Amino acid sequence: MDIYRKVSDIRLRLDKAEGVVGFVPTMGALHCGHLSLVKLCKSATDITVASIFVNPTQFNDSEDYRRYPRNVESDCEMLKNAGCDIVFVPSEEEIYPEPDNRIFDFGNLDKIMEGYFRPGHFNGVAQVVSRLFDIVKPDKAFFGQKDFQQVAIIKAMARQLNLSTKIEVVPTVRENSGLAMSSRNALLTETQQKNAAGISQSLFRAKEAVKQNVSPAHLKNEIAEMINSVPELKTEYAEIVDGKTLEPVSDWNRHSEIFACVAVNIGKIRLIDNIQLK
Ligand code: PAJ
Repeated sequence: MDIYRKVSDIRLRLDKAEGVVGFVPTMGALHCGHLSLVKLCKSATDITVASIFVNPTQFNDSEDYRRYPRNVESDCEMLKNAGCDIVFVPSEEEIYPEPDNRIFDFGNLDKIMEGYFRPGHFNGVAQVVSRLFDIVKPDKAFFGQKDFQQVAIIKAMARQLNLSTKIEVVPTVRENSGLAMSSRNALLTETQQKNAAGISQSLFRAKEAVKQNVSPAHLKNEIAEMINSVPELKTEYAEIVDGKTLEPVSDWNRHSEIFACVAVNIGKIRLIDNIQLK
């Protein structure tokens, strides 16, 4: 596995590459969720490129950026064992030789949920992903369903910029407890990890409740109540939205794909999760 830190070096390597180039962008602190993206990328492409870059422009909270877990060495070891071909570990100067002042317009896609509670977050995601795409020029790029709204944003960005990169979505990988794997889980105490399993348990119960003909408005409140009844968990939002437009759902029958999405604070850590209801 080759590791590159400079844009010019990875470009030299990729210019010589033959076949379908697959790309898995990450912020490191890797877990099995990330590795399932790598695995899928390997099976669907000829060359698997992963990147590790904790992107400052997508953190609206400087404390969150500061304490974000970083362990590039063990990440590279995991990527090597997973059969990744190329890892790109750029410095901030390589990604942003000049400040990125671009403002994207995602319409309603970033006005709710993560977009509402983390202003500027998705603009930063679009900045870094478009820059990384420009460097790697992937034929296919792989993103996790765990970050449901991010997938919608990346697809919109690819359309707006006329990119030919195909966006592939990979199911959420969970701990045995149901807790969605996340780099931020490493910041939780053991008790917090146990309590955090209440997030996914509430979503699983919500999926069951759909069969009992409850209204979306009622279910949305129930999800928040279920989560808040677990020690330490505080729901920031619980939404039931259309799978494509992310518009709030008020009638189960008017949408072909429906997701329940939540953000939950546990101590100083903020976690997100979602489940497909329809
Ligand atoms: P990061 O949080 O490191 O996630 C990298 C990729 O792994 C994302 O596509 C994310 O959805 C996916 N992922 C994370 N946890 C997962 C899980 N439990 N199951 C399946 N996939 C999972 O998302 C980012 O980084 C950044 O915003 C990035 C796209 C790299 C831009 O900086």
